[in-house]
Amino acid sequence: MVPIPAPPAGSGARLSAPGANVTTPWEARFAQRTHGMTSSIIRELLKLTEAPDVISFAGGLPASDLLPRTEIGEAVGRIVASSSEGAFQYGVSEGYRPLRELFVRHMARYGIRVGPENVLVTSGSQQALDLIARLFINPGDRILTEEPTYLGAIQAFGAQQGDFLPVPTDDDGLRIESLEERLRAGPKFLYILPNFQNPGGTTLSLPRRRRLIELANHYGTPLVEDDPYGQLRYEGEHLPALVTLDAEFRGCAGGERAFTGNVIYLSTLSKTLAPGLRIGWVVAPESVVRKLVQIKQATDLHTSTFCQHVAFEVAREGFLDRHVKRLRAFYSVRRDAMLEALARHFPPAVRWTRPQGGLFLWATVPRGIDTAKLLQEALAEKVAFVPGAAFYPEGGGHESMRLNFSYATPEVIEEGIRRLGRVLSRALEG
Ligand SMILES: Cc1ncc(COP(=O)(O)O)c(C=O)c1O
Repeated sequence: MVPIPAPPAGSGARLSAPGANVTTPWEARFAQRTHGMTSSIIRELLKLTEAPDVISFAGGLPASDLLPRTEIGEAVGRIVASSSEGAFQYGVSEGYRPLRELFVRHMARYGIRVGPENVLVTSGSQQALDLIARLFINPGDRILTEEPTYLGAIQAFGAQQGDFLPVPTDDDGLRIESLEERLRAGPKFLYILPNFQNPGGTTLSLPRRRRLIELANHYGTPLVEDDPYGQLRYEGEHLPALVTLDAEFRGCAGGERAFTGNVIYLSTLSKTLAPGLRIGWVVAPESVVRKLVQIKQATDLHTSTFCQHVAFEVAREGFLDRHVKRLRAFYSVRRDAMLEALARHFPPAVRWTRPQGGLFLWATVPRGIDTAKLLQEALAEKVAFVPGAAFYPEGGGHESMRLNFSYATPEVIEEGIRRLGRVLSRALEG
């Protein structure tokens, strides 16, 4: 028998016995860019919030009662009964054409005028963020974000080793006076959530939107506009999307073919139909869509054709708009329930935002209280939130917390905020 030679140096760790302090042949082979990835302590803490008796304000979940189960069931029935095999076969990477056209019509009602060739259907907006990160970010590229910003974007951009350059925010969103200096640093792009921001609940005012578009064009910095919540407005006027203002600014509004904008726009059906469908979409100039398609092909070939057909069947006869109206009425009651409960139960030293829409509000506690520590005490009282530090890519945010108001009923909101108020009062006395 020929003896097996010793493995070459650096060929990685050996497989140890099952159950031992596992070292597999794989760890030493993890790609370098993955070395900085950690699973955050907060994520770990949040696992505890899933216990059934915990009142959780932590997730970003739509209300269970408003998931369109009947409509989805009927849509599935029609798809299965139809003679077409489209929903069961591979599809084109850009997405199911009728669904892209439906998105085009839907966006037009909100003032966004583009053609289907500008639309790529993705597996949720989260995939859009990942594809964008992979298309644009080289290690060390600077990415401007609001501070705080969406945790999933921090993960997607961080995975490509982007460096974050956060811009402070206030009740009207991004603080423009802090922006200009950062634009001069030559960032790759600015990632921004103008409507009912996650996590802050704030909305970028119209004057700031206009100024942002001017500055972004002046400094040649493209924008990635993430808009999962724009339709969920409970008060005030709808504000034009950045992608619309940019088209006006560049003088190409109204002409589908002229869409060459400085803004990439993302949205999703996760908050308006059901997150389980995993349907989102990107709007971008055609050249960008083509490149994103190449990356998407390497990722998952295309978004589930079955889910795309279901989404189209559910939404095609105007259901989406009717459902959104219902969501607005329903969630505004829950938002008000939370605002009232906060006023009743939170100590006066705590401040919070008053969102005009969306699913979240943001509370700030006095300095010296660390909300990550507070979460542990809150969990002992069976109530949960997300500590603010999770949304600060460069550190900070320890004295803030994100509270979701869409999932729990008004009665549960009242009880959860009462418990949290008790925890806060104790911490302040301490
Ligand atoms: C700002 C923002 N972007 C993207 C996403 C991801 O959404 P999706 O379910 O479409 O992947 C979320 C989900 O909460 C979000 O809040």
